[in-house]
Amino acid sequence: MSQIPQEIVDQVRFASEILNVVSGYLTLRRKGHNYFGVCPFHKEKTPSFSVNPDLQIFHCFGCGAGGNVFTFIMKMEGITFPEAVKILAQQAGISLPEDAEKYDDIRAKEALYFANALAADYYREMLNSDQAAAARDYLRNRGITETEYDQFSLGYAPNSWNALINFAAGKSVPTDLLFRAGLVVQKENGDFYDRFRGRITFAIKNLTSQVVAFGARRMANDNSPKYINSPETDIYQKRLILYGLHISREHIRHADEVIIVEGYTDLTSLCRIHINNVVATSGTALTEEHARMLRRYTANAILFYDSDSAGAAAALRGADILLENGMEVKICTAPTGKDPDEFARQQGEDGVRRLLTTAIPLIEFKLNRIESPARHSSSSQKAALTREILSSIARMGDPIRRSFLVRDLAERLHIDETGLWSEMGNMQVRSAPTNPVEPNPADTNDYFKSQKGSAELGLFKISLLYPDIIPVILVNVNVEDIEHPEIRSFFTYFKEYPTEVETFNVKDYVSSVRDQILAGQISFWLQENIVQLKHQEFARQCLITFQVEKIEAQQRLIRQEMGVTHSPQVSAELMDRMHKYLLERQKASRGEFIIGLPPPKQMKS
Ligand code: CTP
Ligand code: MN
Repeated sequence: MSQIPQEIVDQVRFASEILNVVSGYLTLRRKGHNYFGVCPFHKEKTPSFSVNPDLQIFHCFGCGAGGNVFTFIMKMEGITFPEAVKILAQQAGISLPEDAEKYDDIRAKEALYFANALAADYYREMLNSDQAAAARDYLRNRGITETEYDQFSLGYAPNSWNALINFAAGKSVPTDLLFRAGLVVQKENGDFYDRFRGRITFAIKNLTSQVVAFGARRMANDNSPKYINSPETDIYQKRLILYGLHISREHIRHADEVIIVEGYTDLTSLCRIHINNVVATSGTALTEEHARMLRRYTANAILFYDSDSAGAAAALRGADILLENGMEVKICTAPTGKDPDEFARQQGEDGVRRLLTTAIPLIEFKLNRIESPARHSSSSQKAALTREILSSIARMGDPIRRSFLVRDLAERLHIDETGLWSEMGNMQVRSAPTNPVEPNPADTNDYFKSQKGSAELGLFKISLLYPDIIPVILVNVNVEDIEHPEIRSFFTYFKEYPTEVETFNVKDYVSSVRDQILAGQISFWLQENIVQLKHQEFARQCLITFQVEKIEAQQRLIRQEMGVTHSPQVSAELMDRMHKYLLERQKASRGEFIIGLPPPKQMKS
């Protein structure tokens, strides 16, 4: 394989969480910020091998081995660097271009990075020049200090049609490249001119801290657009970039929370008061990709937007996307007439932190809008808002949370929970890739009331609470006989991957359950905390019911056959089979077919 471009290597590195990669080889336990395990590179009994997720490195205090995720794989598998990149790329679903042609694309991208870096350096230098005196005044008035020029890669684009073009030409960088990078604009006659003129520039960077675009703010309150931004290019796609994430992601991970604001200056002002776990959407709508990116660092988001209605609307749109991607979402609004930037500058760190503690969970936020007495909303308005809330709930991947929230909603609005469930059943519920089947909740409820259904449900319950029992259950049932599709796929999975039982984690599993009734049951079991349950005995009873049911189903078939006239010979045969099943049923109901679960000892009376 030819040399892998740095861009791809970085992409793979950011997509590979070292904790996950190392956990694939050894068991790690958390101790403070680090995780420890028994070193795979030397013989030891007490774990001295540590992984630091913040730094994405490993280090063994015993043998001194250490490095990043690539070094780990190289040492572990005894392979070269490109091979390690290849393995991790595969795991992360990133395709490595195999042929030189594709690498040409990457070189073309590298040229775009180069052009943006050149412009960023130039604008930064210009910010110190005489012609930027007004720009520096402007920034000072907005509370932006000189140390922040570098921190946020601020700059000044001179008020000229060709300052950047000439600067680049002086370095033999063709205008054509500036054009492809979106830094210059082409006139109809084919001539080029600088896109950003007489403006403060905010460099927009990707996760590898490379400049990919600029946002440029006007300094006067004239009627030109407040911001002029780079157009999308091969290295700048708005749906993939969150402003500031390259600096804030470690803070986000540490705080286990991300604060999402709209503007560049909202972000800089929050960082100034040491609130660093912030990203800005830069005025574009939050995308699925943004949500997934953030989800890698935390599951908790606070949307901190302007108090005006446009701010609230933007917040709500973004919120649903975050919710769909498994995040907890809270909404925090700055007091009337202020945006987070102004609020931060007026109230300082304490003020903002206090305000953030008042952030309201999304569903609550929506509920308040229904209950608000000021609204005097009609019942049809209430119904519409209730549906809106339900649709938010329906988007959530975690069925346990869904069931809690529906219960809450029913209580607060004094309406019937089952009505809410059926309404939600009509909505498009988030699809989990592992469980394509979604039984109708009503059907499921009836099914669970049947003998067979309750036995399946019981076996499932006991397996979730005591996964150790799964192998025993698998010895006793034929997974194809399980009728409920999700319960069947649950047991089928462990039949295929028996060793997975050891690492089974009920919390991970429940987030993929689709049947709402089933999900509701599980949340109930987990809450109920049924430790006292004699689980072996319970499993035995369920298995007995299950086996008896299977035999009875056969008997029903035979009885049907008997209702039809047959030759004496066939009739005798049927009688014979019926008799066999009768005996079998007796044995089954005494538990004689159960393997691995002895009957409880009879108390002598
Ligand atoms: N924005 C934009 N073009 C505009 C207005 C806004 O691209 N004409 C983007 C910018 O990324 C801006 C964000 O939307 O940061 C939020 O807009 P707004 O709240 O109006 O701007 P602020 O960031 O508050 O800008 P400032 O504080 O400098 O007025
Ligand atoms: Mn602002």
